[in-house]
Amino acid sequence: MCGITGYIGDGIALDDGESAANDGATGDAAGDGGGFARVGDIVHEGLRNLEYRGYDSAGVALVGEASGLTVAKRSGEVDNLTVPDVADAALGIGHTRWSTHGPPTDENAHPHTDCVGDIAVVHNGIVENHEALKTELSDHEFTSDTDTEVIPHLIEEELAAVSGAGGLLDAVRAVESRLEGSYAICAVRDGDDRIVVARRGSPLVLGHDEDATFVASDVTAFLEHTRDVTYLEDGDVASLSAEGVEVYADGELVDRETETVTWEADAAEKGGYEHYMRKEIHEQPESLRQTIAGRLDVDAGDADLDVSFPPGFLADLEEIQIVACGTSNYAGRYAARLFEDLSGVRATVETASEYEFGAGRSPDRTLVVAVTQSGETADTLGAVRRANAAGARTFAVTNTLGSTVTREVDDTAFIRAGPEIGVAATKTFASQVATLTMLAVAIGRERGALAAADARPVLEGLRDLPGAVQQVLDNEDAVREAATEYGDSGAFFFVGRQLGVPVALEGALKLKEISYDHAEGFPAGELKHGPLALVTPDTPVLAVLTDGARADETMNNVTEAQTRGAPAIGCVSAGEEYATLDVSLPVPDVGIAEPLVANVYLQLFAYHVANDKGRSIDKPRNLAKSVTVE
Ligand code: G6P
Repeated sequence: MCGITGYIGDGIALDDGESAANDGATGDAAGDGGGFARVGDIVHEGLRNLEYRGYDSAGVALVGEASGLTVAKRSGEVDNLTVPDVADAALGIGHTRWSTHGPPTDENAHPHTDCVGDIAVVHNGIVENHEALKTELSDHEFTSDTDTEVIPHLIEEELAAVSGAGGLLDAVRAVESRLEGSYAICAVRDGDDRIVVARRGSPLVLGHDEDATFVASDVTAFLEHTRDVTYLEDGDVASLSAEGVEVYADGELVDRETETVTWEADAAEKGGYEHYMRKEIHEQPESLRQTIAGRLDVDAGDADLDVSFPPGFLADLEEIQIVACGTSNYAGRYAARLFEDLSGVRATVETASEYEFGAGRSPDRTLVVAVTQSGETADTLGAVRRANAAGARTFAVTNTLGSTVTREVDDTAFIRAGPEIGVAATKTFASQVATLTMLAVAIGRERGALAAADARPVLEGLRDLPGAVQQVLDNEDAVREAATEYGDSGAFFFVGRQLGVPVALEGALKLKEISYDHAEGFPAGELKHGPLALVTPDTPVLAVLTDGARADETMNNVTEAQTRGAPAIGCVSAGEEYATLDVSLPVPDVGIAEPLVANVYLQLFAYHVANDKGRSIDKPRNLAKSVTVE
């Protein structure tokens, strides 16, 4: 997830006290004692507002009639970037990056340009077919490791073939139709007085001000200047000029509605949500799309995480040991079952702080997988060091490029969920499980333990996951009502079987973390072996009743609790019905990914219970996002 923004207009006169201007590069004073924000200042400010979407490198491209195209970019946070003071800039675009292809270096920062530096492009998303396109562009000079760089070069090719006033717009339209994957793009060109933008799968919104137009991944970028916005739709290509905006869909000029944003500034930082946690729950369709982009080959029944193990290593593999803490540990538990079922390898999960390599194991036949959102958790790093000392091969699944864990393991797969600010992990859990599922498929296929025909339904489930999660999010009102009705209970029990167990554990953890209520998760079959003594009409049971979680057997255990008066809330595979449930929440059909979708209901349940109680949701008491002490 990255942030992109752009502005076309004459700059903005600031009132006294307004702070839109770039620290160093404010323009001329504009009467009234206020300052004046030039194009570069406005783009820079937009990037600061979007930094929650990524902050490992940043850059801008400015176009002025006399000055031409000026590009500045560098690794590090947005404030590390010095935006050149281009007095005649009439338009500009900017980017703040969360790396997916290539480390956060100056070269990999956006904007990217064509061979002669006439065209500049910023991009959010992933161009899945960039390798093939790059091969086709073999006579072009590439200077970065990014997937994005193919775009300016493709535009360059198109412009060489197309002439006339519609040049950049036509070229972007032609290029857009050749890109596979998800993207939002802004393109500018030396000598052109337009910004051309396109979206498919990644968000893009236009802001309309008198004689000026903004564009960004999120209204947060420009909300203090205008509240009149147009959300572009997938497949839209738009041309922004001083005269206004033209939006095209399938080559035809279309009307897109303009609406007025009513959020207050504080909510705007959170994309209109009251808390980062809820925003991040709602980001899951987008973050999951990024996680899987370019990594699934459903037809071939395979997944590719761009990792290669030494020859013979996977064939001889005896055990996968997963080490992780907190939510990442539960993602690991989900994955352990998949490693056994799909990769045909014995898999264990250990709480990282408890991990020892273990006697009687062969280090050269063991893969130790550290799952860690931050890549900095001291307990997990300690486990990786013990595994390394034992001579095992180590592998990290993390969200954070350049984090400590990536420097200490043999291989890394990034989950590409984008920054997560809420202390309680939500979208990163989903992306961890999706990444680990792909790893399980890739290992199973390479070992010959998994037939393409058996891999295909798993990959289809992953492919359909973003849409399924969206359907759950669209049903949020039902969860909110359940939270209001049952939120004041004495304790909460979460149950499931198989893949439903880690989700039950995670559901309970979420509720504990942010509502401070007592909650426990366990395998449904264990209910009768002890916890049932605690069950009363004041202890709701939340159950995962989906594919991959032995729904009927779990429901038997739920009934045992209901017999003792407990209300029951079930996440149920769409089309199935358990008539006795007090609340039934439908989960779209995505096979063994269904428990992961059910988890989104549990995240929302925890959120609304905590919100009704006025808890400090993004920063729960006593907890930290990243715990760097053992
Ligand atoms: C802390 C956080 C949890 C997180 C755990 C592991 O306890 O509060 O939300 O799951 O650390 O973090 P990691 O970055 O290693 O996934």
